[in-house]
Amino acid sequence: MKMAKSLSRVIIATSFGLAVAGLISPASAEMKPSLAALGAPPIPADNPQTPEKIELGKLLFFDSRIGGDASVSCADCHIPKQGWGFNDPISRGYPGVIHWRNSQTVINSAYLGKLFWTGSAKSLENQAPSAALGAVSGNGERDMVEARLAFIPEYVKRFNQVFGDDWPKVNNVWKAMAAFERTLIHNDTPFDKYMRGDKKALSEQQVRGLELFQGKANCIACHNGPLLTDQKYYNLGLPRAEDWLTSGLAQITFRYEQYAKGVTEEMYRKIKDDAGLYYRTKQKSDMGKFRTPPLRYTAYTAPFMHNGTFFDFDEVVDFYNDGGSSNEFTDGTMAASKTKLLKPLGLTDTEKEDLVAFLEALSGPEIKMSTPKLPRYAPLPAMAN
Ligand code: HEC
Ligand code: HEC
Repeated sequence: MKMAKSLSRVIIATSFGLAVAGLISPASAEMKPSLAALGAPPIPADNPQTPEKIELGKLLFFDSRIGGDASVSCADCHIPKQGWGFNDPISRGYPGVIHWRNSQTVINSAYLGKLFWTGSAKSLENQAPSAALGAVSGNGERDMVEARLAFIPEYVKRFNQVFGDDWPKVNNVWKAMAAFERTLIHNDTPFDKYMRGDKKALSEQQVRGLELFQGKANCIACHNGPLLTDQKYYNLGLPRAEDWLTSGLAQITFRYEQYAKGVTEEMYRKIKDDAGLYYRTKQKSDMGKFRTPPLRYTAYTAPFMHNGTFFDFDEVVDFYNDGGSSNEFTDGTMAASKTKLLKPLGLTDTEKEDLVAFLEALSGPEIKMSTPKLPRYAPLPAMAN
């Protein structure tokens, strides 16, 4: 501990020295990855894209027979017409429960190395089973998924063509879904066009918003690089999700998750806010931290934040302009882990409008898709003898 502290003091002292010497300015000492247009998503070597695999993945994404009681598909919580998410503050859940977090869009998830609000999955192949099998989402069961798919001749044929499976294998369900998600790309927004050199792609107001984003409003501290996220975790001190105080169903899920994530008995009794990254690391310093989300396609994905607490960009910008808020956490450790990076910004009304106009430039035309026609069950021919 001591070593680390004195080391960081040396680093600060050195960069301060250089700044004084005029070699680097204090601002450039904390330069963040620049904003830039977004290229194509990475494709993992062990799951190459093919048109047949993508088509199979699309069918499976829309097919509720992957879910426990065959009534919930991925597309029921990632609804194309709702920004490929779910437009309630907290997502719907598996029948009989509600979820406990806001449904994230699957648009551009292909670029992320940390999936979910607390980055608990590293790849789409890895994320899909948690979504399909988790108790408050798909609540599916591996053997049952395989049994159902075996009775859908169209799937048997397609899994054989794409993966060489004699019978559909559940691990290949995740691979096909991931391949489909890697086609849900949004990288030609007005902002991307502008960054590629089309200076007319943004209005003057949006250009002013871009400058504020990188300057006075300091959004770039966390929303940086081509994805507009550093993929790190922060506690912003968001207002509490109201549902947890007023809705019985929401409280059931919230309590259930505390036990499922292994918190102490004391915390289970007292906690009123989602502890975020803490559930994964059990480090007090991670209380209430969530992954910085990428900002493309957000014109379609309100409400915002892990608990859906803000309904539009104006509310988001007001929150940041006030220097984050207001949540007087009941739990002191939660307050202690709140980021120091948010400070009152002193934006004028015009500046706030400029910033909102820039946020709007991070979305292009809506990505529309209708539910594909899904193949039917058929009994297998009886075995001879
Ligand atoms: C009952 C609702 C529900 C169902 C069903 C569901 N999801 Fe989700 N999905 C969510 C919620 C809510 C989150 C955020 C949860 C969290 O972070 O704890 C999420 C997060 C994700 C993410 C992470 C995006 C990001 O930015 O990190 C991906 C990808 C995703 N879901 C894909 C899927 C796929 C594929 C399926 C089907 C196998 C599926 N989901 C089924 C509600 C659902
Ligand atoms: C300290 C890092 C940090 C700074 C600075 C920051 N953000 Fe964020 N932003 C985050 C995190 C973390 C979240 C998710 C928080 C959560 O859900 O608990 C987020 C969420 C958002 C969302 C919601 C996205 C969604 O999908 O729900 C928007 C919009 C947003 N920020 C815009 C901005 C703007 C505009 C600024 C500058 C005024 C800014 N952010 C400054 C870290 C930051």
